[in-house]
Amino acid sequence: MTDPAIFKDHPWDALDPTLLAQAAKVPTMLAPAEQRFYFWATSEWMQDEGAVVDLGCYVGGSTARLAAGHQYAGHTGLIHAFDRFGINEAAKEHFLYPRGIAPFEGTETLDLAIDLLTPWTERISLHPGQIEDQIWEDGPIEILVMDASKSTRTMDAMMRTFFLSLIPGRALVVQQDYLFWRLPWIAIQMELLADYFTPVAFVPEHTIVFLNTKPIDADALKVGMVTPLSHEQRLDLLERAKQRLIAAGFDVEQPMNELIETQVKHPHAERARHIPLKT
Ligand SMILES: C[S@@+](CC[C@H](N)C(=O)[O-])C[C@H]1O[C@@H](n2cnc3c(N)ncnc32)[C@H](O)[C@@H]1O
Repeated sequence: MTDPAIFKDHPWDALDPTLLAQAAKVPTMLAPAEQRFYFWATSEWMQDEGAVVDLGCYVGGSTARLAAGHQYAGHTGLIHAFDRFGINEAAKEHFLYPRGIAPFEGTETLDLAIDLLTPWTERISLHPGQIEDQIWEDGPIEILVMDASKSTRTMDAMMRTFFLSLIPGRALVVQQDYLFWRLPWIAIQMELLADYFTPVAFVPEHTIVFLNTKPIDADALKVGMVTPLSHEQRLDLLERAKQRLIAAGFDVEQPMNELIETQVKHPHAERARHIPLKT
């Protein structure tokens, strides 16, 4: 399955829910449609020509959905999942314990993720640590999932480390938090790189999926840097991103307006923590 026209029909929404039954045991922050998309991306879209990379895998929820699809299709490559694998008490109480994880001491989640991902161990490689400190030496990337975009610095670092390995014409970049109101820099970076990526799907709640259409080179990495941009440049890029997505037929005017509002209210924010939560 290689024709990008396939995205128009949202085939992941017709996924048999039993295919996600085992992965559903791993806690995730993903919405139901996003979970279906992850399985579909590795089972139907990818052709086993490169690696799957999951940036910000939490305790393995996204990785499990990707791995379930990867296994279903019988792919032989690896899924590389990156995270600092840390958690605080409040997040344990809010996200893990209500989903059946037994209470545990400490802040480390690497062992928990290893345990939860046991059904797919042979196809997963975990990379603990700050993503900004990581290197990528594992060849072409076919699916790149980005869910650790909490600051402009991290965005630029992830782009520099992973985008050069995307397979042109085939690689998907899944921007998990593109439409989340607190992270305007994702839309800004993808708009900077509009010559290299085409938006192919809006997957509620917050995901925009891009197809890499042109080889990423050193020039592209310079073009895609968000950190040096002024507030005015960021605002202009957000407006252009909004028009591009609406022209692509995605119903995203309201969340794009929220991103623009965030940029207007917090012109100097460089990380999510600089932007207060809405009360
Ligand atoms: C929204 S959660 C990911 C949710 C996950 N994809 C799922 O399926 O539920 C974001 C994750 O990114 C990780 N993260 C954020 N910034 C990071 C960084 N700079 N380095 C390493 N991990 C990071 C956090 O530890 C957290 O687990």
